[in-house]
Amino acid sequence: MSRWTSDLATGNPSIDREHQELVEIVDQLKAAAAGGDQKARLSHALDTFRDHVLSHFPSEEREMEAKGYPGLPKHRQAHAVLTTLVVELVEKDNSGTTVLYSEVDQLAQALYRHILLDDKPFAVFLAKG
Ligand SMILES: [Fe+2]
Ligand SMILES: [Fe+2]
Repeated sequence: MSRWTSDLATGNPSIDREHQELVEIVDQLKAAAAGGDQKARLSHALDTFRDHVLSHFPSEEREMEAKGYPGLPKHRQAHAVLTTLVVELVEKDNSGTTVLYSEVDQLAQALYRHILLDDKPFAVFLAKG
């Protein structure tokens, strides 16, 4: 079952579409991490997650730039912090260290917090026109 629920919706259709995709990937990642013994599956899920994050964040920032969003500098910083966490987890996995479900879950929670606290205000800004 997907973690996607209406509380994560920003109300902006294109942002929500990307977030929905991201949440589905996080769900797959969590399932892989919970599997424990399927290392290749977890590595693949981590790579997919990283690729999506690395494509979603810049696309959001471009949209913010295009719309003259005043919160962009702070938002960029938040994306940079999350990106570092994602890349660190991928590197940990690549180095052969087991990535734990709790670490994946922590990262997922940080991402959901970002959607709620940082992405929603941008959608509100967009809705005001
Ligand atoms: Fe964001
Ligand atoms: Fe986002």
